[in-house]
Amino acid sequence: MLEPDLVSMIPLAQRLDRIQEPQTIKMAKLGRELRAQGAPLIDLSLGEPDFRTPDFICEAANAAMAEGRTKYPPVAGIPELRQAICAKLKRDNGLNYLPEETIVSTGAKQALANIILCLINPGDEVIIPTPFWVTYGALVLLAEGTPVYVHCPVAQQFKLTPEQLEAAITPKTKMFIFSSPCNPTGTVYSREELAALAEVFARHPQVVIVSDEIYEYINYAGGHQSIAQFDAVRDRVVVVNGFSKGFAMTGWRLGYLAAPKYMVQACEKLQSQFTSGANVISQYAGVTALTQPLDATHAMTAAFQERRDFVIGRLQQIPRLNVPVPDGAFYAFPDVSAYFGTTTPDGMRIQTDEDVSMYLLNIAHVNTVYGAAFGDDQCIRMSYATGMDNLREALSRMADAFGKLR
Ligand SMILES: Cc1ncc(COP(=O)(O)O)c(C=O)c1O
Repeated sequence: MLEPDLVSMIPLAQRLDRIQEPQTIKMAKLGRELRAQGAPLIDLSLGEPDFRTPDFICEAANAAMAEGRTKYPPVAGIPELRQAICAKLKRDNGLNYLPEETIVSTGAKQALANIILCLINPGDEVIIPTPFWVTYGALVLLAEGTPVYVHCPVAQQFKLTPEQLEAAITPKTKMFIFSSPCNPTGTVYSREELAALAEVFARHPQVVIVSDEIYEYINYAGGHQSIAQFDAVRDRVVVVNGFSKGFAMTGWRLGYLAAPKYMVQACEKLQSQFTSGANVISQYAGVTALTQPLDATHAMTAAFQERRDFVIGRLQQIPRLNVPVPDGAFYAFPDVSAYFGTTTPDGMRIQTDEDVSMYLLNIAHVNTVYGAAFGDDQCIRMSYATGMDNLREALSRMADAFGKLR
């Protein structure tokens, strides 16, 4: 009984009470436990490409190590990488940034943490369209800000309308955060849709727009569009991006943002106390990823698209699911709410999205994440970042499982 005594004597900091472990991690843990008990689990809960990091990127890291380029990097990133980020933003997005308007961090997640902690004061409102990536809300709460969730239902393809945005902005609004392509819905905003949102922001110059573009390359709808392209808002957009998804580099922990120089300097100050900068070997690999042709990235995207077509096609054959077609990222986000109120073969009532996910986990041994984790309790998220054999088996088990609900 030593631990409870210790906890009452030395309690944890209260800020931890404001956040929870992401439900994505909770579901991954449940899946691992089931697999350890011998269940033939297919895990569709993960937000990570199943591909290996391309060889030419690994070789660049090996060369950096072999040449002894392993010392502390500058806090904001090695000059070669900040330069490469500017060249990439120009090449892919037509955006002009100077190296001092960029900063390299330990994943896009830290880039987001930096900018939120640098800009949000207690009580500041941050508008987050839902469904949303769980971390946005948690980071705002850590900064003692107030997340303002604006629900964008499946009927509007999970997209925020200019009217909804205008209605959500108050004098306390300091920031807006969204991702396109979106995790968890795969929704991609078109140029026209972003222009319409930018028009609203133009009327509210106190709002910083954080544009999370980490799924940029995994886009089946044509070219990626950044809200930073619009002059009316360009000087208060923070473009967040990283290497995890497009280059299959999740474990390298490398991301970046581009923003007005004073914001970048603030992030650098914070980062100088938190991490002293991102892993330098990863940074050298990142230079190669950004400066070489994108063939490997495009090949991975083509594979994701084939899987998307298969998964969506099969889901659409399952009665009563409402299955929008995602234009990007590697998630399906079907609306399963028509099954609420049904009963499983062993007499359990399905009442919620979580019940659906747990039923699929325990009966079909297919691990998904329930939508409430992302602010939409009508849907479940399925990642198709796994091989076609797994997907075929998973979808056939799911069709069986839904077919047994009465
Ligand atoms: C929308 C979104 N933004 C950011 C991240 C974080 O990426 P990184 O691995 O670069 O920290 C993720 C990872 O799942 C994500 O889905």
